[in-house]
Amino acid sequence: VTATPLVASGCDSRHEHDTESAESDALRFDPEKYSIEAKTVATADGERRITYHQYKGIVYVAKPVDEQYQSMTVSVPVQIDGSTVDASRAPILLSNNIGGYMSSSMTKSGGTPGGLPSGAAPPSGATRGGSGGFDDRANRTGNPDLALAAGYVVVEPGARGRDLVGSDGVYYGVAPAAIVDLKAAVRYLRHNSGRVPGNTDWIISTGVSAGGAMSALLGASGDSDRYHSYLTELGAADASDAIFASAGYCPITDLEHADMAYEWNWGANPPQSGEQVDQTVSRELATAFPAYQASLNLRGRNGSGALTADNYADHLLRTYLQPAAGKYLKALPDAERGAYLAANPWLRFDNDTATFTWADYLTHVGARKKNVPAFDAFDLSSGENNEFGNGTTKARHFTLYSLRHATGDANARLDSDLPDKIELMNPMYFLGRDNPGRARHWWIRVGAKDSDTSLTVVGNLAAKLENLGANVNAAMYWDAGHGSNEDAGDFIAWIRGITG
Ligand code: DHB
Repeated sequence: VTATPLVASGCDSRHEHDTESAESDALRFDPEKYSIEAKTVATADGERRITYHQYKGIVYVAKPVDEQYQSMTVSVPVQIDGSTVDASRAPILLSNNIGGYMSSSMTKSGGTPGGLPSGAAPPSGATRGGSGGFDDRANRTGNPDLALAAGYVVVEPGARGRDLVGSDGVYYGVAPAAIVDLKAAVRYLRHNSGRVPGNTDWIISTGVSAGGAMSALLGASGDSDRYHSYLTELGAADASDAIFASAGYCPITDLEHADMAYEWNWGANPPQSGEQVDQTVSRELATAFPAYQASLNLRGRNGSGALTADNYADHLLRTYLQPAAGKYLKALPDAERGAYLAANPWLRFDNDTATFTWADYLTHVGARKKNVPAFDAFDLSSGENNEFGNGTTKARHFTLYSLRHATGDANARLDSDLPDKIELMNPMYFLGRDNPGRARHWWIRVGAKDSDTSLTVVGNLAAKLENLGANVNAAMYWDAGHGSNEDAGDFIAWIRGITG
């Protein structure tokens, strides 16, 4: 951590970093190098005309592997509806554009974020277990624009991803590259405290799906020394990578336990193709879920005791699904609510409260999005198999179940580098050890019709954080699919609350 304390004593002298090495000096932010941009943002109370300074292509490591990805864009509002704003101490929204564990760049193709922008077709090779893209109610860009309109600094970091292959055939963006890059971006901001606009003690990370997973991991793993060698190799700034708050939308995380959780949740649902998934494999995986769930030692909300596979459906109904349906129905105009209830007689709505059974809910969701196993595909075809690739090996198994199934070798072991990398990619690992550098404030959202992963993934992340005493705002969006963000305005208000 940078040894020089930041002394705020006037504009010119407060940026001293006497102890910085020649290397970290290369990471000095230049406040003068911006372009002036303008945009109109629709907010809940009308349109805002925003003038902002944009800093593009800021390489955030001293020894980049690929500058196109290891760079970021910083946007700083200077005028809103004609009034001058001062964002020099404002919260910083760190909004990643990672989708499908793919690379994302803010400088490639004219500054369009990489990954999987809303409505974009999933990249080839990412269609199965990688990403099916986002469903139509998705809204990926709401958060950054509304943050600008609120007078906040917006930082959009690029990051390496699993699709990147060098001319030597080496996959140089596979795990843990994405999280290492995000940490390096945070360190860059911290290293430039006082020079870079915004309050670096108020970094709020956000992302969707794989980006939501990385945002949760960034929040959980703050300042962990487990990433030290990777960060050193890149010449990342010697500064804290802990963040203030973490927001994750439909985080595709806890990957090594996601197959069993998926079959526990969606095992009874028919696949989209109509052809039934392998029932033996589905049952074997689902059978392994209770022991994993028990091993987490979680408690539900309001002193409701141990959270187990046996009471998990009830937990999801009471804590998330029924409140989400109730909120949705309450907000509908009377005629539409009447039509909805007539079309869905399995759902009861009395006194603004929705009730229904788990079985009826599952039927309502319909087709499961993924095959079995959902993540560690036997034929190594999933995006996650690629994410756990190594060197010139494009894809590997990351669970013993799939490894042994695929190879027919009951004694097969994961490659020796893998257990470490699997931990470095999983926020549950760091929360399980109560990592002291973890974020204190959490915003977690997922659509109730999102079958990209098990709902227990969000349920467990939220429960673990609540059990640790974190400030958690977790909720589901009724009838919403993958990538949904339906309360971006509330998210901005939440940021105002925690930074107020
Ligand atoms: C994403 C979606 C998935 O279904 C998955 O397995 C990984 C990532 C995504 O949209 O980012």
